[in-house]
Amino acid sequence: MGLKPATNPDVEAATIELSIDGKSVTAKSGVSLYDVISSTGKIIPAMCYHYTFDPFGSCGMCLVMQEGKKAPVRSCTAKAAAGMIIKTEGDELFQARKKAVEKHLSVHPLDCPVCDADGHCELQDMAFRHGVTNLANAKQKFIPEDTRSPVLDFNMNRCIACAECINVCKDVLMIDALQFMKKGGFNQVVPKGDFALSCEFCGDCLAVCPVGAITNKFSKYLYKPWQMKKTTTTCNYCGDGCQMYLETKDAEVVRVTSPLSWKNKWGDRADTAKGHGGLCVRGRFGFEYIDSAARLKQPLLRKGNQLVETPWLEAMHQVVDQFSEIRRKHGPDAIAGLITARCTNEELYLFQKLMRAGFRTNQFDSSARYGHLNFVHASRHALGIGRSPNDWEDLTKAKAVILIGSNITETNPLTAVRIKEAIRVYGAQVVVIDSAVTNMAKLASHPVLITPGTEGLVIDGLVKATLELDLVDETSVKKHPLAFEALKTSVAHISLAQVASQTGMSVESLKDTAAIFAEAPRSIILCAEGIVRRPDGYQNVLKLIDLAWVTGKLDQPGCGVNTVTEEPNEQGAVDMGAAPEFLPGQALFSDQTARDRFAKAWDVTLPAANSGADLVEILSRCRSGQIRALYVIGENPLATLPASMEVRAALDRLELLVVQDPFLTDTARMAHAVLPACTSAEKDGTFTNLEGRVLRVREAIDPIGESLPDWHIMTALANALDCQWGYESSNDIQAEIMKLLPGYYNLGQPRKVVPAVDHYLSNDYTKDVGARYRASAPSDSKSQRPFALIMGQVLYHSGKMSTKAPGLITIAPNTGRLRMNPQDMERLGVGEGATVRLTSDRGSMQLAAQPDQSIAPQTCFFPEHFNEPPVKDLMSVQVDPTTGVPTFKQTRVTIEKA
Ligand code: SF4
Ligand code: SF4
Ligand code: SF4
Ligand code: FES
Repeated sequence: MGLKPATNPDVEAATIELSIDGKSVTAKSGVSLYDVISSTGKIIPAMCYHYTFDPFGSCGMCLVMQEGKKAPVRSCTAKAAAGMIIKTEGDELFQARKKAVEKHLSVHPLDCPVCDADGHCELQDMAFRHGVTNLANAKQKFIPEDTRSPVLDFNMNRCIACAECINVCKDVLMIDALQFMKKGGFNQVVPKGDFALSCEFCGDCLAVCPVGAITNKFSKYLYKPWQMKKTTTTCNYCGDGCQMYLETKDAEVVRVTSPLSWKNKWGDRADTAKGHGGLCVRGRFGFEYIDSAARLKQPLLRKGNQLVETPWLEAMHQVVDQFSEIRRKHGPDAIAGLITARCTNEELYLFQKLMRAGFRTNQFDSSARYGHLNFVHASRHALGIGRSPNDWEDLTKAKAVILIGSNITETNPLTAVRIKEAIRVYGAQVVVIDSAVTNMAKLASHPVLITPGTEGLVIDGLVKATLELDLVDETSVKKHPLAFEALKTSVAHISLAQVASQTGMSVESLKDTAAIFAEAPRSIILCAEGIVRRPDGYQNVLKLIDLAWVTGKLDQPGCGVNTVTEEPNEQGAVDMGAAPEFLPGQALFSDQTARDRFAKAWDVTLPAANSGADLVEILSRCRSGQIRALYVIGENPLATLPASMEVRAALDRLELLVVQDPFLTDTARMAHAVLPACTSAEKDGTFTNLEGRVLRVREAIDPIGESLPDWHIMTALANALDCQWGYESSNDIQAEIMKLLPGYYNLGQPRKVVPAVDHYLSNDYTKDVGARYRASAPSDSKSQRPFALIMGQVLYHSGKMSTKAPGLITIAPNTGRLRMNPQDMERLGVGEGATVRLTSDRGSMQLAAQPDQSIAPQTCFFPEHFNEPPVKDLMSVQVDPTTGVPTFKQTRVTIEKA
C-alpha cells in the first residue's frame, strides 16, 4: 500500500502531514487521497479505482468527509494536501455509499446465478456489505451481448461504467482498444469504433472488471470460482516469467488468472515497476495445450514402420538396452542429447548430469543455443556476467532506452509493459531501432526504421557518433586509456555518412541517439532477436557493451546492456550447465578446478575437457555416423531448422532416436522410442526468468495419461544405467543444486550481478576490439535479391507449443501467407491473397501474399511457428565462430507475381 511515485523518480515530492480519522499521517504531496488512506491500512470501498492506473472517479464509493466541505468527496480523485482533516467512517458516509450501490444495482440485471463473476463480484460484495435489499424496481437494459471477439464476451447489461477496462488498456498497456459509446440510452464499453475487438487479447480488461461484464469465452458457464483449485505457478511461454494462477477442476484446466485483479486494487504504484501482475494473450488464453487431446499418453516404440503404444517398463528396457549397447560397442561419444529450455532448472541440471555422469559424454545442447548464448558469451567475456544485469524496475525507471533488434511487444509482452511505463510514467526517451514497424516504435520518442541486417552497422555508427560528439564519460575512459585508444583506432575508418546510407538511419538520428543515451542519468540498452539471433550476434553485443562503457553506462546503477529470452528458461539452461561449454553455475567445462569440484560431487570422472559438441556439431556427427544415439527432450530440430542443416539426414542415420515430449512432434515421428513427458502444469520445479529471478513452477493437475515429468524419466534412465540416483521429487534435485550453487535459489528476488568492467578493459580488450568493427557488413549484402525475408515470433505464439492451443490458433491461425508491405504489393501488382513466387539462394516456393502495414518496404515476413508452407527451408545458416550459435531467421529473396 502506498503512494503514487512522482513522475520523475529523481525528484522527491514534498512530505506533508494530514489527519485521517483523528490520526496524524505523513504522506507525499499531490498523491491521491485514497492512496494515503489505504497506506494507513484502512480499506474503504472503491469500485472504479485500481492502483495501476490513474483514478477515474465514476463509482462514487470512495467517499470521505473533508473538514470544510459540506458534501462527501471522492478520495480517489482528490489529491492529498497538507493540513487536510479527513473522516473515512460514519453513518453519513455509509448511507452515501449505500446510495451509490443502489444506483448501480437499479440498472443491473441481477443474473448472478448464471454470471461467471458470481462470488467474485465487487458489486455483489458492496451490496452485501451495505445491506442493499430494495432491488425489486431494477430496470433491465436488454443490451445484446457482444460475442464477436475470439476470447472475450462483453455483456454490457452488467457494466457499471467504472472504466477500469478502458483505463488499464489505455494507461498501462498503451493499446487503447476500448471506449465508452452511448448506445441504446446507456454508456457502453465497446471495442474502438464498435468493430469486433481487435487487440492484443491480453485479457487484463477482464481481470480488472469488478463485475461480470467482460467474460472469458473459455470458461464461461463452466464452474463457479469456488469450485476451482487455484495453483500459483509461472508461465511456460516466455522468459518474462509471469506469475499466474492455473484454475483447474479435477484434470481439466479451466482458466488462467493472475495477480492483476480488482480484488487487489490497493498497492503502491511504485511497485508496478516490478510488474503490474497481468498476463499476455499466451499466458492467459494459451493453456489448452495442457489437456489437449493430442497429448501423448503412453510410450511408443517403433515396430517396423509404425510407432506402437507400449507399456513404460518395456519401453524403458528397450531404450536402456539400446543406449547401453551403443555405448558398449562405440563408446560414450556415440551418444548425444538435446533439451528444450521449457524444462525446469532441476530438469536441465539433471539432463547435463545424465549426459556427463550417466552416459559420460559432453555432446549435448539446449535451445539457448538459438541465440541467447551469443549474449551470454559476449557479456561473460567483457563483463564476467552471463545474463542481463538489469531487472524490470531498472527498465521502468530508465530515462533513456535503446531497444535494438527487438519486437518486444510480440516476444516479451510484459517486459514491453515495463518500457511502456518508462515512457508514460517516468517520461523516458526510447529509441527503437528495427527493420520492422514495431508496436513499440509507434510509442517511442525516437522510432528508427533501418535496412534489415544492418543492426551491426548501426551500432558502429552509434559508437562513432559518441566519439565524434565527445559524449564520452571521462571517468570511464580515463581509467583505461589504452583500451580507449584501441577503440578510437578501431572505429577511425567508420564514416557516419556511409553508415547512414547503408542502414537508413540518418546521421542526425545516429547523433541524437548517441546523445540521448550518453546524457541521460540512467540508460539501458536492450537487444534481442535482431542482434542475438543474427550473424555477428556475439560481436554486436560486444559493440553495444563498448557503447555503454564509453558513455559511462556500464556499471552505474540502473544502467546496462540487456537481452530478453524467448523461451521461459533459457537463462536457467545456461545457469544449470545445459551447454557443453558450461558446468552448473556457468563454470567453464574446461576449468580444471570446476571440473574437479563437480567430478567429486557426482563421484565420476568427467568427459575430457575438449570433448564437447554443440547443436551444429552434434548434427554433423550424426550425419557422419560418429553419433549413433540421440536423446531429445522437448526439442524439435526437424521442424525448427532449415533444410540446409540436413536434420533429416542426421536423424535418419541414427541407430537410436529417443524423443521425450508431451506431443508427437515431427522429430518424434522419426524416433525409435517416444516417451510421454508432462507439461509444466503437471510438475514442480523452477524457471529462471530474464531478470535472473528463480520462480516456482507448481503441479496444478496430475500428469495426463501415463506421461511423467522429465526429471522422473531421466532419473529412471540414469538408474538403469547404474547411476544410483535417489531423487524422489524435484525438491531433492533442488537440494543438490543448492549445495553446489549456494544462493542460486533466491526465490522471488532477482539475484544481483555486478559487471566486472575493469578486467577485460585492462587485459584482452586492445587485442580483440579491432575485429568487431572490421566484422561489420550488412548480412547478405552481396546478394542481388531485393527483399529481406524475416522469420520471427508473433505475439500469439511461442515456438511450436502454442500451435497446440486451440484458443491461440483461433486468434492467429496459420494463414500460410507471406506478409508484405502494401506498397510493395501494389508495385508488384500483387493483390491480397494472390500467389507470389518467393526465391532465395536455397530454393523457391509459391505462396499467397498478405498486406501488412507493420512490414517495412522491401521486407517480407513469415511466422516461425508454422511450416506450411516450409518457408524456413529457404533460409541459409551461418554459424557464429565463437559461440556456435546457428542463425537462420533472415535471408535475401526475390518476390515475383506467380
Ligand atoms: S484484452 Fe487487453 S488489449 Fe484487448 S481490450 Fe482487453 S486490455 Fe485491451
Ligand atoms: S466492462 Fe467492467 S471494467 Fe469495463 S466499465 Fe464496465 S464494469 Fe467497468
Ligand atoms: S509475457 Fe511471457 S511469461 Fe508473461 S504471460 Fe506472456 S508469455 Fe507468459
Ligand atoms: S473509487 Fe473513487 S469514485 Fe470510484
